[in-house]
Amino acid sequence: MLRSLLLTLLLATPAAAQNLDSLLARMTLEEKLGQLNLLSANGRASPEQMQLVRAGKLGGLFNVIGAENTTPVQRIVVTESRLKIPLLFGLDVIHGYRTIFPIPLGEASSFDPDAAEATARAAGQEAAAFGINWTYAPMVDIARDPRWGRIAEGSGEDPFLGSMMAAARVRGFQQTIFATAKHFAGYGGAEAGRDYNETEISERTMREIYLPPFKAAVDAGVASLMSAFNDIAGVPASGNAWLTGTVLRHEWGFKGFVVSDWTSIAELIQHGVAGSQAEAGRRALMAGVDMDMQSSIYADSIAALLRANRIPMAFVDSAVMHILRAKQRLGLFRDPYRVRTAPPNAELRAIARRVAGESIVLLKNERSLLPLDPRAGTIAVIGPLADNKEEPLGPWHTQGQAADVVTVLQGIRSRASGVQVVYAQGAGVEDTSTAGFTAAVAAARQAKVAILVLGERGDMSGEAASRSALDLPGVQEQLLEAVAATGTPVVLVLINGRPLILPWASDHVPAIVETWFLGVEAGNATADVLFGDVNPSAKLPVTFPRVLGQIPLYYNHRNTGRPPDVNNKYTSKYIDVPVTPRYPFGFGLSYTTFGYSNLKLNTARARVSDTVTATITVTNTGSREGTEVVQLYVRDEVASVAPRLRELKAFRRVTLKPGESRAVDLRVAVRDLWFIGLDMKPVVEPGTFRVFVGPNSVEGQEAVFELVP
Ligand code: GLC
Repeated sequence: MLRSLLLTLLLATPAAAQNLDSLLARMTLEEKLGQLNLLSANGRASPEQMQLVRAGKLGGLFNVIGAENTTPVQRIVVTESRLKIPLLFGLDVIHGYRTIFPIPLGEASSFDPDAAEATARAAGQEAAAFGINWTYAPMVDIARDPRWGRIAEGSGEDPFLGSMMAAARVRGFQQTIFATAKHFAGYGGAEAGRDYNETEISERTMREIYLPPFKAAVDAGVASLMSAFNDIAGVPASGNAWLTGTVLRHEWGFKGFVVSDWTSIAELIQHGVAGSQAEAGRRALMAGVDMDMQSSIYADSIAALLRANRIPMAFVDSAVMHILRAKQRLGLFRDPYRVRTAPPNAELRAIARRVAGESIVLLKNERSLLPLDPRAGTIAVIGPLADNKEEPLGPWHTQGQAADVVTVLQGIRSRASGVQVVYAQGAGVEDTSTAGFTAAVAAARQAKVAILVLGERGDMSGEAASRSALDLPGVQEQLLEAVAATGTPVVLVLINGRPLILPWASDHVPAIVETWFLGVEAGNATADVLFGDVNPSAKLPVTFPRVLGQIPLYYNHRNTGRPPDVNNKYTSKYIDVPVTPRYPFGFGLSYTTFGYSNLKLNTARARVSDTVTATITVTNTGSREGTEVVQLYVRDEVASVAPRLRELKAFRRVTLKPGESRAVDLRVAVRDLWFIGLDMKPVVEPGTFRVFVGPNSVEGQEAVFELVP
């Protein structure tokens, strides 16, 4: 009698009060496989999914929107299922839930991890108020090929900046909900920039370039990783024991769980590494993919594999424990409903406007055309994106609504309320009609300045949106040239999700600002910069090529045995274009100017356990306050593996008043100057290290120190 009473109590008590080992011991095989099963809903759980929940056959649902839809499902778990193991409710909260912030590539331009943490925290808080407890973000894939549409979702080409942003976003999200570092790994290496394509990434490049942001996310305590669709030199990431076993578990000590990306487990069949769904499930589970998103292979096939002794139960138990521990860490057993209140909308929008302003890169500003005087006379605002409320939300804006967006035209009108602002769409984003040119040219003729707002639709970047050409789509280039031909000075405002190829604009347009997709406050933030209320401080997190044929083009490349020399035919270059980018990594202008002088290192000789401090004097040599992103790059002069010419190892945002000088310290731990040696292990070798400190990846002062054994 007493025993059965205790057992009833035990079963009635949410699992929080029990240790997970005893919970696991009481789970049936179906319940275990249920924890590994994750399905997408269509806003709300379907009746079939509710049945699976009652039977304990689901570990989570995603795309259930709103607490009014998540709470009833969780209540069924807690009141009707046998073991009452709460569900995870996932959603792609990439850069905002309803309040949409700049796309991650834009936010990375701020070189401000605190800003990234703030927007992730705000997004997590807002999502939690709508029943979400798990986001599939941050996307931390390094991308060196702007043809790849998902370059928009990450932090660009550099592993150091990418690592800083990854850790910041994990910290921000996980103040309220679980984060997921994705897509593990090498997804951005898709050949030809074609999404889902094969990659040919060496282990050395994986470890030096693509893995560091994931390691930073793991070190920041990320709850989960999402295994990628792609193969890594032929071995699919979602069935890759080296990746999700050796690297992730044994080398990094990751304690969270791995969820597959959509049907990437089933896609092992398409990859040709599994002949059946069961084999795909066996390969993925034994490689270390704990949770099966959307393919139901674990739920449908693992039991038979166990009965046939094709997979040890230990793999199932290990995956189940990873998920149970995560749910316990999230507090779900204790507080399954996690009811939260969203921050006030005004607070969220203020963060959106501030971070958007920090994300705008000033690429060109001849004769200080910018900032504009809001009283100086008629302003023409022209272009398909000038008054567009949808596109500034970007390619993946979850619950974001176009109605929430302040357009560039609206932002300009509200800021320049004292002058006439004339608007003409001029053309569509992608259509070929030039019928609107006449009105656009007429608008420009009557104006003191013409602001052209051009670029891409949101769905022209993001997932499954690779482009084979990177110029302005449709007839936008022709529109730009037609307006410029009026002689009215032109300011080009770009709204886009990737680097674009802009030869004519770069040569002929006096002012160019890269605004990416800035989210709900796009118009206000753009106007803040155009009229000088915000002095632009952002820097490019990704290289802008001159021509498509240069791709892939990135700053941290090796020297080759025949580095480019215009005076020597037989060196690495093209016969038709320079090898240099149009705009390099780390580049961005300001409305003021900064001088760099007097670079000093705290030591000329260092050991691997030391930290080298570079001190440089930065002076605001212009007439207005501004913020500079001071960047420190390092080059290992001689090593057992060909060194990269420059590698970003530190950066710092410094705000200076006109005429102000400041000694700025940038610190580098010598142990961070590792590379993957001949034995494929990280190593820091003695020798000469050259330090560059300056405003971007191609300029700056130099100093040298010796690393001694
Ligand atoms: C998609 C994406 C991934 C996303 C997942 C769930 O295919 O690749 O980034 O998190 O499915 O929506």
